[in-house]
Amino acid sequence: MDGPSGSGKSSASRGVARALGVRYLDTGAMYRAVTWWMLQRGVDLADPGAIASRSGEPELVMSTDPDAPGVTVDGVDANGPIRTEEVTRAVSAVSAVPEVRARLVNLQREIIVGSLASGGIVVEGRDIGTVVAPDAQVKVFLTASADARARRRTAELSGTTVAAQKAEMARRDTLDSTRQADPLVMAADAIELDTTPLDLDEVIAEVLRLVKERA
Ligand code: DC
Repeated sequence: MDGPSGSGKSSASRGVARALGVRYLDTGAMYRAVTWWMLQRGVDLADPGAIASRSGEPELVMSTDPDAPGVTVDGVDANGPIRTEEVTRAVSAVSAVPEVRARLVNLQREIIVGSLASGGIVVEGRDIGTVVAPDAQVKVFLTASADARARRRTAELSGTTVAAQKAEMARRDTLDSTRQADPLVMAADAIELDTTPLDLDEVIAEVLRLVKERA
């Protein structure tokens, strides 16, 4: 499941994973966790070389339980701190660095392979259908209007407003879709789903229908 922030990916992906009884992985949380780690250590995020040279250090452990997803970094629960505005503002700089991506994509593939014995996994991100899992059985690309996305995102994050989120999301969209390394693009064989007029249950039902049809 790929798409921009606020497209409804997280709730839909978790719901689909729960309904199918499979694992769930939020890859955005991984980029956020590395960003949080770098901020804590005072790494200069304006310097891609500095980010690259420290990118092998943070140890991420992901929970892939759709009822209790989460991330620890060097053994510390990072689920609260990774959702702050500070991390949200900084994450595009970190996720644009190829060394960061290479390491996290490897880890994501290990988690995916590890899930296959127990029925598989729903993975959400930006480059899952194009880079991480090009052989995925079902690829869904979620979109939504800018207003709907900003409203949803504001409800998820602490200390922000819809107007601020709309501006921040436009800035991040541009960075995420124009970066050189694995930009946000829809895979040629993905199905696009506009979630603007749909509620969560309708999005989940539609994705489950696609899974039934394709997988
Ligand atoms: O989905 P999110 O907003 O939590 O993702 C945070 C950032 O991580 C987003 O700005 C882009 C980046 N990201 C990425 O580059 N590749 C992914 N597979 C997932 C997220």
